[in-house]
Amino acid sequence: MMDTADSLVLEARRQFMAAGLPDASLDARLLVSNLLDLSSAHMISHGGDAVEAHKAEVVRSAIERRLAHEPVHRILGERWFFGLKLALSPDTLEPRPDTEILVERMLSVVSQIAAQKGACRVLDLGTGTGAICLALANADERVAGTGVDLSPGALETASRNAKENGLESRFIALHSNWFSAVDGVYDVIVSNPPYISSSVIPSLSPDVRLYDPLLALDGGDDGLDAYRIIAQGATSALEPHGVIGVEIGFDQKLEVCRIFEAQGFILREAASDLGGNDRVLVFALSR
Ligand SMILES: C[S@@+](CC[C@H](N)C(=O)[O-])C[C@H]1O[C@@H](n2cnc3c(N)ncnc32)[C@H](O)[C@@H]1O
Repeated sequence: MMDTADSLVLEARRQFMAAGLPDASLDARLLVSNLLDLSSAHMISHGGDAVEAHKAEVVRSAIERRLAHEPVHRILGERWFFGLKLALSPDTLEPRPDTEILVERMLSVVSQIAAQKGACRVLDLGTGTGAICLALANADERVAGTGVDLSPGALETASRNAKENGLESRFIALHSNWFSAVDGVYDVIVSNPPYISSSVIPSLSPDVRLYDPLLALDGGDDGLDAYRIIAQGATSALEPHGVIGVEIGFDQKLEVCRIFEAQGFILREAASDLGGNDRVLVFALSR
């Protein structure tokens, strides 16, 4: 029987539902439309057109990968984040929509500092794809950022994303164990560090456990290791007027506030995600 975009969506959806995947319809549509390079409008008007056999094969092998729990955007190799198309690699976390809340909150901080100083230097600790830093640089041309990561593969992807989005002149990828290779002081620090307790990792969904790198997830025994290092290092890496914004796990607000307050920071703002969970904390130095 002839394959069409519509028949491939149905085939994918049926298999995803049978396998108990949570977003079967959306995943099926995303995979087919992106792999066949068809817009939503084209899917509606031409969904019944014949699809060449080799293209249908590409879709079927993507269906197999999704059935093995590989997330849709990893299969596609890219995803949108705060208006930027970002390449993913096995060394990078797939940026999450929740992290856009951190970008949104920090954008007003960054713009305020840039309005006063004419420029704003941003340090992104654990940059991964470069998502947070590149989104800030893209949204405000007065931003120049350094993205730090321990993973050379992640830094390669972040540099590629900077280039693909025309931001390479305002982005430096720095190989560093948190602050170890960081020089100088910054106006703003942002970080979405690994914050999952080591003991919880085996129980994460296979989409996350099998495909996001462990280095991007594992926050140590209580999930808070990175915050301790970041809070301590930030005291000397921030300008006196500096501000730091971090993403947190839904149950970490109290502990993360204690960690930063012990280093002389005061909580300036807290924001929740769309599910009402604590997600972002913004601190300033109280000196
Ligand atoms: C949760 S991911 C966040 C990635 C990206 N910022 C985002 O929001 O999509 C945490 C990142 O921290 C990096 N990382 C883990 N340990 C690190 C360390 N000791 N020094 C620097 N980066 C580290 C990981 O490689 C990973 O890219």
